[in-house]
Amino acid sequence: MKKYDVLIIGAGIAGLYAAMQIPKSKKVLVVCKDIPWECNTFYAQGGITTALNEEDIAPHVADTMSAGAYHNDKDAVEILSRTSLETTADIINRGMEFDVDDDGNILYTKEAAHSTKRILHAGGDATGRHMHYFMMVQNRHHLQRNTLVYDLLIENGRCYGVKASVNYQPTTIFADDVIIASGGIGSLYEFNTNSRTISADIHGICVEKGIELSDMEFMQFHPTVFVDTPYARKLLLTEALRGEGAHIIDEEGRRFLFDYDERGELASRDIVARGIFSHKRKTGGNVYLDFSMFEEKSFEQRFPNITRTFRDLGYSFPKDKVSISPAFHYANGGIKCDTNGCIEGIEGLYVIGEAARTGVHGANRLASNSLLEGVVFAKRATDHLLAKEQIAIATPKFEKDYANILHKENDKIYKHKLRKIMWEDIGIIRTTKGLHEARNLIYDMKNKEIGRLLELRLNTASAIVDAALARKESLGSHYIESIK
Ligand code: SIN
Repeated sequence: MKKYDVLIIGAGIAGLYAAMQIPKSKKVLVVCKDIPWECNTFYAQGGITTALNEEDIAPHVADTMSAGAYHNDKDAVEILSRTSLETTADIINRGMEFDVDDDGNILYTKEAAHSTKRILHAGGDATGRHMHYFMMVQNRHHLQRNTLVYDLLIENGRCYGVKASVNYQPTTIFADDVIIASGGIGSLYEFNTNSRTISADIHGICVEKGIELSDMEFMQFHPTVFVDTPYARKLLLTEALRGEGAHIIDEEGRRFLFDYDERGELASRDIVARGIFSHKRKTGGNVYLDFSMFEEKSFEQRFPNITRTFRDLGYSFPKDKVSISPAFHYANGGIKCDTNGCIEGIEGLYVIGEAARTGVHGANRLASNSLLEGVVFAKRATDHLLAKEQIAIATPKFEKDYANILHKENDKIYKHKLRKIMWEDIGIIRTTKGLHEARNLIYDMKNKEIGRLLELRLNTASAIVDAALARKESLGSHYIESIK
């Protein structure tokens, strides 16, 4: 029987930073579904927020709460901000290189709804990629690829491990502690910025086991995404572009966002996304991101990743404007846990990063708080885990296995249908009627002849639509349009 001290599901920033905290003497296994860089961390562009110093904690907390429509758990937000002083210093001391000026001073940027420049970045607009590489190198524990978890082994309020397909072979992995760091739910939506591996499987298992998902109505849509590509993952155009001066214009060249909020392009993400969506719907025209105010060389230096990616698509930045649409980006809600990542009622199970709902984001996440959340709560969860007394318990037998029914014949058709329903009816602007229709379709699909993995997606989708229906009033990223 394979048994580990700690099993970490996910190799994004939360999973890897958790692994970095656990001594080599512990038997730790980190697993990821595909290749390790197929995770949302790898695609994060803008940066990682940090409180700049003690004095900046209060403003950072205030910005986070205001963006979150005050639905946040204030204690969790204060922990996030205060701990950032420690985790940022730790990451830098371990050798992570953020962008600096000619004198070696760290360069901070600003993104929407931040009251000051407090976002560190690396490789210009490739912060996630650089941090991911750094943490992959730092991790001393075994990382196993191609491991798709399809069940959590839970009995009598304790988690004993998982069942997973490892290189397509059904495998049981036992562990004293399991840390879920599996990311969000991006693949449920037709238009999304997430890695293709992010498909809400673990959330779906939690629904099945009666583990609470919370704040699931608050799905976040990034305002500036290039969606005219055939691939599932759409191309993000970082908030930092607007933070550093890019404009959003309509076909007449007008900066129409001031019609929606006096902060224009720098209003919080939910407001900007909704403004673009509404304007497109109202005018039937396109909306663009305009960088023409940037000087060519400095643009390329600051945003090399975007410059290169779009050059391959025939764009010449900053001269060319690019058409944009909002797209699903981030799950503000998730698996409910406390600020140590503990899940109430289940021993030996933690959740961190985007998969978790700690209450830090409220109804709408402040830009670049996500990489920060990953490190802060990875640290807290592993501190908690390492400090507790381990009690030896006999492992029960888990006979049930879904390995031979992971997929069924018509899953692709239903999956595609689900992605459309999520985008159209549980998207940026919702109506009660649309939500009811979506709910019926989701529950109807659940009763079809479907595979395990689709069933898990549908479990998560049903949690989202049920939460959206339960919240009658608009708040943050949950917006209900009343039909007159
Ligand atoms: C971005 O670079 O715009 C994304 C940052 C984030 O999701 O916080």
